[in-house]
Amino acid sequence: MSSLTVTGGRRLSGEISLQGAKNSALPILAASILSAGETVLTNVPALTDVEAALAILRHLGCRAEFSDGTVWVDSSTMTGWDIPDPLMRRMRSSVVFLGAVLARTGQAALSLPGGCELGPRPIDLHLDAMERLGAVIRRSRGRLIFRAPRLQGARIDLRLPSVGATENAMIAAAGARGLTLITNAAREPEIRDLARYLTAMGARIGGAGTSTVTVEGGAFAPIVRHRVIPDRIAAATYIAAVASAGGRIVLRQVCERDLTAVNDAFRQMGVCLCYRCGTLVAAAGERLKPPLTVTTRPYPGFPTDAQPPLMAAALRARGTSAFVETIFENRFRHVPELVKMGADIRVDGQVARVFGGRPLHGAAVTAPDLRGGAALLTAALAAEGETTIFGTEHIMRGYEDIDRTFRALGVNVKRDERTG
Ligand code: EPZ
Repeated sequence: MSSLTVTGGRRLSGEISLQGAKNSALPILAASILSAGETVLTNVPALTDVEAALAILRHLGCRAEFSDGTVWVDSSTMTGWDIPDPLMRRMRSSVVFLGAVLARTGQAALSLPGGCELGPRPIDLHLDAMERLGAVIRRSRGRLIFRAPRLQGARIDLRLPSVGATENAMIAAAGARGLTLITNAAREPEIRDLARYLTAMGARIGGAGTSTVTVEGGAFAPIVRHRVIPDRIAAATYIAAVASAGGRIVLRQVCERDLTAVNDAFRQMGVCLCYRCGTLVAAAGERLKPPLTVTTRPYPGFPTDAQPPLMAAALRARGTSAFVETIFENRFRHVPELVKMGADIRVDGQVARVFGGRPLHGAAVTAPDLRGGAALLTAALAAEGETTIFGTEHIMRGYEDIDRTFRALGVNVKRDERTG
């Protein structure tokens, strides 16, 4: 198990370019197999989740290379339709390959993705969407087998604005005959980015970023070039870092429009955020105000992925805050680890009450999941002494070169790759 050791107490100072969005690159990589052509994807972050997606593409017979932020995929050589269990389990969101494999080959086989650190991760909405488009599903020895000789456009009413189910439905619909209407669709920026990619491939898409999306397949272009949008959750994480440690940082390649709810929460705390031409200057002084009540919601509400880092930053603000988690059942697993550092946080069901302003001290803690790990890093910046964070493989799923990035922001951090 790798670890990071952070020595707290330093104000941040530095400048970085924000990584490309993990949660946009992954569905686009899945969609790249819709056509027997080439995709050149730029601004792709070097993450273990991206490596896992490339492993699935190669297993299916595609050629996929990654170098210096650019991924090149040639899916003309694709022959597979079965995603084996080990590959499914390497990346929680591998279910997003379902729609593309089904549309391209007329069949698909994958294992039920296990639950993950955030709680059970059902895929009923994904399955319903595939059935609406004409797929027949059967279960066999814990695996799901899909048959759909020809997907046909349909109306898909999503019970929840699920990001992944919206993406799977859009991708499958782009490979279907006729028009598909998706209602109660997720509105996240990553949905709009996927729509831009599918449009460049040749699909006709309306309403992406609203609750009602229409998709119509079309003749696919032989080669598609696309640049992934900036990672808004990584941006929120670095804003939380400067809120927690104090100081002033500059983030390049940030999209202000994707961060409205996040900006409001940090400004409420007294963090200064100044955006100009895609660059953000974020600064925080000694005194922070508590964010009061933060309720996670589907976009454009406050993003669940930014809840853990914001909670860690709120520890530095004298006063009480309440975090209401409405998206995932089990997204407070960073709390006991923060308590080891001296935090006073009390969880009651889906509400965590933070009693901020108490001094934090270094400790040995373990990242419970990707964003929980980011919360521990955020708190360690404000803690007295050294904090060693184990389980940083979770963090590296979503943050590119996290130790190098934090060092560029003035943090005293060391990575230890010793296993065991
Ligand atoms: C995406 O996950 C993101 N992952 C998550 O980011 C993010 O937290 C989440 O959207 C919410 O914004 C990627 O994009 C790769 P959902 P996804 O389907 O698609 C329930 C990170 O840290 N649901 O919108 O899996 C589900 O249980 C990750 O980067 C069903 O009930 O999320 C959850 O309660 C974590 N049935 C809610 O919907 C389904 O078929 C939202 O899940 C699907 C989902």
